[in-house]
Amino acid sequence: MSSRPPPPTSRNGNRPKPPQKRPPPPPPPSQKRPPPPPSSSHVSASSSGGAAGVGKSNYNGVNGSKRKRIGVISIRKPVELRDVNVFTRKNKLGEGTYGSVFKGADKETGEIVALKRINTEQEENGFPLTAIREVKILKALEHENIVKLKEIVTSKEQNGSNEVPRNVYMVFEYHPYDLTGILQSREISLSQDLIKSWSYQLLAGTHYMHTNKIIHRDLKASNILISQSGELKIADWGLARSWNESMKRLTNPVVTRWYRSIELMLGTQEYSPKIDMWSVGCIIAEMFRRDGLLKGGETELSQLQLIFHTCGHPDVNAWPDIRQKCPKWAEFEPRPDEHILPNRLPDILKKTLPPSHMGWMTPNAINLISNLLTYDPSKRWDAHTALKADYFWEKPIVKRNVNDLHMKLKLDSVHELAIKEKYMAMKAAKR
Ligand SMILES: Nc1ncnc2c1ncn2[C@@H]1O[C@H](COP(=O)(O)OP(=O)(O)OP(=O)(O)O)[C@@H](O)[C@H]1O
Ligand SMILES: [Mg+2]
Repeated sequence: MSSRPPPPTSRNGNRPKPPQKRPPPPPPPSQKRPPPPPSSSHVSASSSGGAAGVGKSNYNGVNGSKRKRIGVISIRKPVELRDVNVFTRKNKLGEGTYGSVFKGADKETGEIVALKRINTEQEENGFPLTAIREVKILKALEHENIVKLKEIVTSKEQNGSNEVPRNVYMVFEYHPYDLTGILQSREISLSQDLIKSWSYQLLAGTHYMHTNKIIHRDLKASNILISQSGELKIADWGLARSWNESMKRLTNPVVTRWYRSIELMLGTQEYSPKIDMWSVGCIIAEMFRRDGLLKGGETELSQLQLIFHTCGHPDVNAWPDIRQKCPKWAEFEPRPDEHILPNRLPDILKKTLPPSHMGWMTPNAINLISNLLTYDPSKRWDAHTALKADYFWEKPIVKRNVNDLHMKLKLDSVHELAIKEKYMAMKAAKR
């Protein structure tokens, strides 16, 4: 059983800009472009009239009022955010670095939701940047493989005198599983259809966000939710940001270490959506293996060593600008007399599988994962290319309609936190 991966080192960085529009490449299933999000970042809790202004335009909940523009003056109707008491709070679903997630039920309609508490108390300026980012980006993105933010609610009590409510909650549609919970639950068996469909859906969601110039920067199994019917939803957008080709100094480190791409590990600050593609490669491999592929130790050094022992030493001929783009490469470049580690990825992928999954790792599956874990980011597959991979079109052909999956897992729900607590309790009972 694997332990929880270390959290991303940093959630700071620059504020996202609105998604850029550009002509779409040939579409994966149901391309939908998002409307542009609010354009400024000033945070003020009181100016909106609502309890929690998120961004200058004040997040008014999903059904909030529209602003009227007359010249430079903008008039907006204040909207009261609902109180969190409209929900009955149930069990804790997750405990992140930046707040907890609870299951909730709407007292009036009975609808089950997930409530992500944003802790404003630790924040000097009132409202955490990660939460502002997450709301702005989620408000702009709309796709079946991206988790849906329904509204923002607040609790009445204020945080001292600064008028920021002590607790603000993001209300999401509830999904009974996350991928870590599924992969680590021994009771749950998977099928080729599920792994193929989730790989495809993950790529479709990633393709949508990258088309709109958003990088997620924290793709990992516990941030992937699965619905009752097997629909996959990319969650946890606190580290996401908008991106364009001219950006030369982006925050590094980002991404949880086990899923962090080689260029990030080697210190680049000039990165692209391809960092997410590396994480997607790790997640797809993890589904086959039911365990993380690149689970390094506690240090960055051990993570890099594991990558080298798995995928081989980077070859400067195959990645010509490695020296220029990756400042730490100089520390790790093998000396002329040093043994060059070979690429063992295909072997490792084939050999370290649960017995029931053995035949599933076909040459086409290995080809897909290898192209996602390619060192040179300019040669690493983007989501559009990966969606066309032969793996999806060899038998069993990917089921693009989730209803054809007829998913029925042995557990009604399971999330990373629940599985972690379960195995900790089992360990304690054995002592
Ligand atoms: N909409 C949802 N439905 C069901 N469970 C959810 C939902 N959103 C989040 N969770 C659960 O809560 C966990 C934490 O959520 P999330 O990743 O958004 O928060 P976080 O504070 O950023 O976490 P971390 O810092 O650990 O990445 C998820 O791994 C998942 O198990
Ligand atoms: Mg998370």
